[in-house]
Amino acid sequence: MPKIAVLGSGTGSNFQALLGEFGDEIALVVSDQPDAGILGKAEAAGISTVVEEGGHDLSARILKHLEGIDLICLAGFMRLVKDPLLSAFPNLILNIHPSLLPKYPGKAAWEQALADEAEMTGCTVHYVDAGVDTGEVIMQEEVAILSDDTSETLHARIQLAEHRIYPEAVRLVLGKIRGGA
Ligand code: GRF
Repeated sequence: MPKIAVLGSGTGSNFQALLGEFGDEIALVVSDQPDAGILGKAEAAGISTVVEEGGHDLSARILKHLEGIDLICLAGFMRLVKDPLLSAFPNLILNIHPSLLPKYPGKAAWEQALADEAEMTGCTVHYVDAGVDTGEVIMQEEVAILSDDTSETLHARIQLAEHRIYPEAVRLVLGKIRGGA
């Protein structure tokens, strides 16, 4: 059975959504924030956790914990993934981003969409490469922006879409891994 590591810095709602479907596969949660909600959620589920705080060698330190891991899912991980971690998992690191990439990469993408007076935004699951939110898109879901949306209401609706497409995208990628594609 493929083993998944989830990396997150925040509340871990996407982790929770993945756990619903991949409880047997998720073997490890890594956070750079010792008080991140994702750690408590992992511990409650009986999943091993590791904290590695920032620093220039963060990717190397994280990599040391990933023996036996086949797929990495970033779920609100607020650090750039760099070598040697990146090259150790070619096309095997996924991220969820709260916009329809390539629109609105970077931080608080839903606020960028609101500031842009866009009518539509959404979320994207993509492969992670060396850029910021530039990797190949795997799956997207559109979310309409309502005239009375605030930053909070829009982000909450995008997150509901995230929780739908992230497990679906992971299922797709695991199928490719199992099929040797
Ligand atoms: C999500 O909105 C995701 O798109 C972004 O960070 C947030 C993480 O939320 N990358 P959570 O920790 O999964 O609740």
